[in-house]
Amino acid sequence: MRLVLVGPPGAGKGTQAVNLASHFAIPHISTGDIFRSNLKAGTPLGLEAKSHMDRGELVPDEVTNKMVKDRLSKDDVKPGFLLDGFPRNVVQADVLKAILEEKKSPIEAALELVVDKNEIINRLSGRRTCKNCQRAFHIQYEKPAKDGLCDGCGGDLYQREDDKEEVIARRLEVYSEQTAPIIDFYAREGVLISIPAMGAVDEVTKRAIDALAARSGSNA
Ligand code: AP5
Repeated sequence: MRLVLVGPPGAGKGTQAVNLASHFAIPHISTGDIFRSNLKAGTPLGLEAKSHMDRGELVPDEVTNKMVKDRLSKDDVKPGFLLDGFPRNVVQADVLKAILEEKKSPIEAALELVVDKNEIINRLSGRRTCKNCQRAFHIQYEKPAKDGLCDGCGGDLYQREDDKEEVIARRLEVYSEQTAPIIDFYAREGVLISIPAMGAVDEVTKRAIDALAARSGSNA
């Protein structure tokens, strides 16, 4: 399965990506997580990305495209992969298409998570992220078993700089101006699947798996 997850900030892409990657036994590639890991390690890539991320802007395409091209050259993506946070504009979508055309292995589905704006703001403002493994929790909807600590690895939870109110507003603008056009791009490619992403995490996962199964059944 070669899958792209599309949706606004806070739609639940990272949360669903963990469940779907485990279900399909494919690597979860999140460009946001790669940037944050680089930042934590203090690499030049992380420092470059931080200046854009903290303002809610996109990291320049040449930096992001190269990083994704390198990642997609690894052996573990041969059985498939799930991209979360990439592509984020039509230039990136074209670059991804060209990388995959070379390998004769195009995207099979672009899964759009549809969530209303109030829910997005609730989800982002209440998100707490593990400093160590980047797993997302929520102070109301997905509480960790122990306050302030990750259930998975025991790492400390923190609030992302870009989950502050003024940055959320900018990220939503960037999404509608630059990222939303990729929904039409994938509709034209004939691979778009849109599902409502309101409701409990497990319900959304089931909806996604059912929609992907229905699509692969109809392509069989
Ligand atoms: P990135 O890390 O990709 O952020 P994003 O796309 O803005 O998405 P988020 O991580 O904010 O949200 P999500 O949809 O994954 O939601 P989550 O599952 O965490 O990118 C950050 C920045 O990096 C960008 O702004 C940009 O600067 C840079 N960047 C990244 N990729 C780039 C690219 N390709 N090009 C250029 N720049 C790039 O869920 C949110 C919260 O809701 C959590 O608390 C979760 O617990 C909760 N939740 C999830 N699902 C549910 C549910 N069903 N019910 C209740 N709560 C839920």
